[in-house]
Amino acid sequence: MQRAFQPLMPFQFPVALLAAVPLLAYGDAQSALDPKGQNAARIAETSWVLFAGGGIIFATVMILSAAALFGPAGLRSAIGRHAMIVGGGILFPLVVLSALLIHTFLSASAIMRADAPPALRIQVAGELWWWRVSYLGDNGSTALETANEIRIPAGRPVEFVLISDNVIHSFWVPNLAGKIDMIPGHVNRLRVRADAPGVFRGQCAEYCGAQHANMAFHVVAQAPADYDAWFAAQTKPAQEPRDAVLQTGKRLFLNACSQCHAIRGTPAAGTLGPDLTHVGSRLSVGAGMLPNNAGTFGGWIAGNQHIKPGNRMPAFGGLSGEELRALAAYMESLQ
Ligand code: CUA
Repeated sequence: MQRAFQPLMPFQFPVALLAAVPLLAYGDAQSALDPKGQNAARIAETSWVLFAGGGIIFATVMILSAAALFGPAGLRSAIGRHAMIVGGGILFPLVVLSALLIHTFLSASAIMRADAPPALRIQVAGELWWWRVSYLGDNGSTALETANEIRIPAGRPVEFVLISDNVIHSFWVPNLAGKIDMIPGHVNRLRVRADAPGVFRGQCAEYCGAQHANMAFHVVAQAPADYDAWFAAQTKPAQEPRDAVLQTGKRLFLNACSQCHAIRGTPAAGTLGPDLTHVGSRLSVGAGMLPNNAGTFGGWIAGNQHIKPGNRMPAFGGLSGEELRALAAYMESLQ
């Protein structure tokens, strides 16, 4: 009985340790081991119980194995006793695994339980390969649409309404909660509460095509007053161009980009791609790929098929340098 599970242990444990190294190395922006919300804390606690329990059992089994191989004759015969095999091989795993199962069930049910109605509902749709973010009003209609960045008030319960109309994606912000799939034809809900203001990185966690690995986003938790100010600014239409360069950028945008993108306050009302009304105020360009500035906007517009091959936006390589700079400056000016 002991033989049946022993040979696996020496391999499983180092592999589990190695898998944990990149998580630790990533630091606090995207780490399940650095919880910044209630649900993530419960998951991290369960993980540590499993890591510690596995580590103690592994060490015990290794010591017993060494004693059985190299120990004095008396010890070896004691280890080989029938009672030892029944106790260590059947009873002990039964008790330990049952206890861990109960602990995990209790954690999971605590995570699913909603303690209060959410302060805010945000619908997030998995697109190919970006995130459409809709802040829902009381009647369920969209009060604000944005993309690839989700701002939430810290300390308040927020409900994510997770959908997809293409393939299965998985919504995962390791610092705040566990992952949950976005399934076509099905609505999943996830409750999250950030403990304090902070910026957390989220990542699609279900293979969804060529750019699955580059389907990232940020969650920005803000003090409630800062969040309210941000929300009020975001619901305003886009700023008018301040100078001739930005006016050129706007004209180019309306010619080339408005079939797919919307900018509220202009005739651009496309819905295939992200809403760009305040795109300059976001942290990233290309769903978490590049930092947000005029240079990366220019690079993305002209070379997005090199940066993110296969994404649904065509590369606009035919613009002159002057046009590209004007268009990029206009994007960045949309604060
Ligand atoms: Cu979307 Cu992986």
